[in-house]
Amino acid sequence: MRSETEIPFEDNPFSIPVAERVKRLPPYLFGKINKLKYQKRVAGIDVIDLGMGNPTDAPDPLISEKLAEALADSRNHRYSVSNGIENLRKEVTKRYWKKYGVRLDPDSEVIACIGSKEGFSHMCLALMGPGDTAVVPSPSFPIHVYGVVLAAGNVIAIDCRDPEKFLQNLAYTCEHLYPRPKVVIVNYPHNPSTTVVEQEFYVELVKLAKKYSFLVISDFAYADICFDGYQAPSFLSAPGALDVGVEFTTMSKGYSMAGWRIGFCVGNEEMVRALGTIKGYYDYGIFQPVQIAAIVAMRHCEAAVDSVAAEYRSRRDVLCDGLRRLGWEVESPKATMFVWAKIPELWAEMGSIDFAMKLLDEGGVAVSPGRGFGEEGEGYLRLSIVENSHRLRQAVRQIGRCTKIKPATTE
Ligand SMILES: Cc1ncc(COP(=O)(O)O)c(C=O)c1O
Repeated sequence: MRSETEIPFEDNPFSIPVAERVKRLPPYLFGKINKLKYQKRVAGIDVIDLGMGNPTDAPDPLISEKLAEALADSRNHRYSVSNGIENLRKEVTKRYWKKYGVRLDPDSEVIACIGSKEGFSHMCLALMGPGDTAVVPSPSFPIHVYGVVLAAGNVIAIDCRDPEKFLQNLAYTCEHLYPRPKVVIVNYPHNPSTTVVEQEFYVELVKLAKKYSFLVISDFAYADICFDGYQAPSFLSAPGALDVGVEFTTMSKGYSMAGWRIGFCVGNEEMVRALGTIKGYYDYGIFQPVQIAAIVAMRHCEAAVDSVAAEYRSRRDVLCDGLRRLGWEVESPKATMFVWAKIPELWAEMGSIDFAMKLLDEGGVAVSPGRGFGEEGEGYLRLSIVENSHRLRQAVRQIGRCTKIKPATTE
């Protein structure tokens, strides 16, 4: 597993003496698929790409207009402040208050990040070192595991697809493991499994955090992409959450600003300060025009976030209905921009990597094999609903065509 976005095709060993931490990163499981995708594209073959969770739609024009205006001002081209400009941090606190009823201090409890992934990785570095252990959700969005690994921490993966069981297993782990986990990472709505929770989950999590003295990092990347009246709760809305943890949000998904690289870490003052200390050494903040445009986005483009979510919902329906018509067992997710689909019985034996290769090679549809998210993802595929409904219907037809023929038995 590795970042979904950094995609070397091959894992050539280094001939220079790289650091141990680089060697600790395992071979890239999406490599084979990305290579084939690339070869097809070079050969002029159309690929319907449901592989990465990379939004293809443009942000609200107002946001881009503000960016252009801010670009024209020469004062905005200098290094910015590492923590994020004041008005941006204030806007984040207003949004948290309005959406989740959580009061935050913009000076001490909010920090802007160069995308939430950057912030998350550096938070791991700020909190962990050799001998420290983190509980991570499994199956895993790769950086949840490798942020810890790069910080030289140990990983305990707990299946997060049944939130109640996750809490039970977490309590058991804290009771029996010595030293106890120092950090617990949660990510609901969850990438890749799309599992969601209600606020009660966080109430219990905070109680456990206080009982067993661990810190919580909540990755809330899909906060804005919820469907059918479901509203994902913020970890910080649980009583006492500010005492034990932080939450990461992003403008990549709801505002379709993935390439702009802007996200936030909010919550526990000392954790935010620790992250700020690391970032103060590593970076000079986000390009200021991006920060200014982000303020406008949060102030004036909430309707655009709603219509982005509505668009993903209608794509979800197209894809889930289509796959069900092919006989696949799929649950319609309540949030995220993914469908987490069980590989049909007929093809299950093949394994998720080979089955994903087949869909790409014979069907022209790229998907992510569940195995790419760790062992617990085996048996599943993750399909991103980043292509439009017309392309998704076409994807279903192509998947149907290439999976019609019964696979040859292995005996
Ligand atoms: C769970 C999760 N967290 C974080 C991110 C990265 O967000 P950002 O673009 O803010 O770095 C993603 C993106 O795919 C994600 O799925």
